[in-house]
Amino acid sequence: MIKVVKKAKTPLKGEIIIPADKSISHRAVMFSSIAEGECVIRNFSNGADCISTLNLFKSFGTKIEYTDKTTLKISSDGILRPQNFSSYSVRLHETHRHSIYPHPCFCGNSGTTMRLAAGILAGQTFRTILTGDESLSKRPMKRIIEPLELVGANITSTDGHAPLVIDGRKLHGINYASNLASAQVKSCILLAGLNAEGVTTYSEIYPSRNHTENLFKYMGADIKIEENKIILHPSKLTAKDIDIAGDISSAAFFITAGLIVEGSDFIIKNTGLNLTRTGIIDIVKRMGGDIEIQNERILSGEKIGDIRVRYTENLKPCIIEGEDIPRLIDELPVIAVLASQADGETVVKNAGDLRNKESDRIKCLVSELSKLGISIQEQEDGFTVQGGGKPAGGCELESHHDHRLAMSLYIAGLISKEEIAINGFEWTKISFPEFEKLFGKLSL
Ligand code: S3P
Repeated sequence: MIKVVKKAKTPLKGEIIIPADKSISHRAVMFSSIAEGECVIRNFSNGADCISTLNLFKSFGTKIEYTDKTTLKISSDGILRPQNFSSYSVRLHETHRHSIYPHPCFCGNSGTTMRLAAGILAGQTFRTILTGDESLSKRPMKRIIEPLELVGANITSTDGHAPLVIDGRKLHGINYASNLASAQVKSCILLAGLNAEGVTTYSEIYPSRNHTENLFKYMGADIKIEENKIILHPSKLTAKDIDIAGDISSAAFFITAGLIVEGSDFIIKNTGLNLTRTGIIDIVKRMGGDIEIQNERILSGEKIGDIRVRYTENLKPCIIEGEDIPRLIDELPVIAVLASQADGETVVKNAGDLRNKESDRIKCLVSELSKLGISIQEQEDGFTVQGGGKPAGGCELESHHDHRLAMSLYIAGLISKEEIAINGFEWTKISFPEFEKLFGKLSL
C-alpha cells in the first residue's frame, strides 16, 4: 500500500490516548498462559505482533477470549500442551498477509514472540518448531540459543536462525552475564529459569526494559533485583488482572510530530513511563524540546502518565550513546527525523543492534532520509544527522517492510516541502494499526 503524505497545513492540537504497549501485551498473554487461574487483560495491543503471541499460546491450549476489542479473558491451568491444529485461529491468516508459511507455531514478524516463547518452550515436555516470516527468519537467534544451551536446552536452528526446533527438557539455573542489553534475551532466560532447577542469576551491560521483572513481581514470582543482578528462584506465577499502559514507542511518533510541526500543542494520555523506556523524553529535554509530564500514576506495577508536547523552534543537537541506547532503541528512527530539525550535528553511537531489527535500521534509515534531502551518514554502530532546514520531499520512499521506519517517514512527510509517497505503509499494522486515525484526531 502506498501512502501519500502532505505537509501539515495546520498545527496539531487536542488530546489522544495512546494504544497499548507492545512489550507488556506480549508478556501479559504469555505469563497468564503459564500461570494458574483466570484473569482479564485490559487494553491489549491490536498490533499484528501481539496477535502472533496470542495465537501461539492459544495453540498450546490456553483459553483466550476477546470480551471486547481490547479486552481478553484468559483461563489456564498453567500447563502448555503440544499444538492442537483445530484451535488454529483464522485471525492468523488475516493479520499475516505477508507471511511465507503460516503454521500454528508461526511467530510472524515478531522477535519478542519467538525469543520469549523459546524460553518457555525449552523447559516443556514436548517438541515445538517456531517459525517466522522472511524478516524474522533472518534475525539472529544465537543470542538466545547460546544461553539456553547453558541451562540445558536442546535447540536446533539453521545457522543461528529460525526455524527453531525446541526439544523440551528439564532445565537448570545459571549465573549469566550478558554482553548485550537485550530485554528479549533477558526475558527468555528468566522464563526458562521459572521452570528450572536451582537459582537463575542474570546481569547485562546496560539495563534493558524491565517489564518481565515487573510482571514477575506482580504475579508473585520469587525474584529480587540486587544492584545490577536479577536473582530468580523457580516460581509459579499466579494469574492476576493486568491493565496495560500506552506504548511510549508509539507515543514517540506523536512527541516528534508535536515538536516539529509548527504551532502544535497537545496531550498524549496514558503513556507508559517505565524508566527503562523513557530515553526519548530525556533526549527531548536534552534538545531543549517543550515536553511536560502530568498526572503520573501506577498501573499494574508500571508507571504511567500524560505527556504534553509543544512545537519548539530552536532544538539543540545532542550525542546519544551507551546507556541511552537500550532506553530508546526502538525510537531511534524517529529521533533521526527529530534531529534533522535541530541546529547542528546529532550523533548516535553504540547502536549496532539496530541492524538486527525488522530491517537493517541504520542502512535503511540513512537511505530513505537521504532521498528526502536530510543530511545523514551511516556509521557501523549508528548515524550522524546534520540538522537545519525542512526536508525537500517530492520523492517515493520505501518502508523496507519495517513498521517503525514507515511511521518515521510519515512524520518526516508532515514537515517536507513537497509531498512524499511511502511504499509498504501497511507494515504499520505490526505495532500500531491506529496510527493514522489518531493523527486525524489532532485536527490535521
Ligand atoms: C523488546 C525488546 C527490544 C525491542 C523490541 C521489544 C521486548 O528488543 O527492540 O521491540 O519487548 O523485550 P531487544 O531485546 O532485541 O533489544
